[in-house]
Amino acid sequence: MSVDITVVADAEEAARVVAERLAEQARAGGSIVLTGGSTPRRAYQLAAELEPDWSRAELWWGDERCVRPDDANSNYGMAKAALLDRLEREPAAIHRIQGELGREAGVHEYEYELEGVDTFDLVLLGLGPDGHVASLFPGFPTLDITNRNVISSDAGHEPFIDRITLTLPRICATRELLFLVAGEDKADAVAWALAGKPSRATPGSLARASDGTTRAVLDRAAAAKL
Ligand code: 6PG
Repeated sequence: MSVDITVVADAEEAARVVAERLAEQARAGGSIVLTGGSTPRRAYQLAAELEPDWSRAELWWGDERCVRPDDANSNYGMAKAALLDRLEREPAAIHRIQGELGREAGVHEYEYELEGVDTFDLVLLGLGPDGHVASLFPGFPTLDITNRNVISSDAGHEPFIDRITLTLPRICATRELLFLVAGEDKADAVAWALAGKPSRATPGSLARASDGTTRAVLDRAAAAKL
């Protein structure tokens, strides 16, 4: 399945393009799945400026580290500081992954939360330099799990903290899947994930919207090897 790719000059511009899409979805309402890592921080800040009323949207997370929500490594914590704390009207629901419960109970709680949830409207994904998405790492058996929505995983990349993650089919069940990737250290992973053959060696190559569009917003450095 082909990916609709937008290349912009730098990370700031990439963040702005993604922020505009997030703000538009927040205005329209629906389900938005946020990603962790550091690249999306700026996009979240700009999205809160562009649209301070997120009361029509429900928020989810693609993955979380097994830490408390106020830990510096918490994906929820990053989104709270960059986005949620800056809004005038908070989302209708904030479905965070409770990493502090540990792998088993955290998975169980999120499975419960996701019961009956159909296709997402927008899933945002980053891409690791090794090609991982959410906490689905290259070659891990977690890539083969198709009968669950949520699973736990060892960390295949830093920070080396246990993870809880949506499975591939649950991530792909979306009307739009949007990659945000910036930086030259991502150039190989971008080429494998967006222009290579689908492969378990590059989880990003397996992440495609099963019910809609897959887009990628890249800065010039990340797109260098396409
Ligand atoms: C996580 C993520 C992960 C992230 C990539 C890219 O919890 O670590 O959700 O998949 O998106 O590692 O992260 P950076 O933007 O920090 O490079």
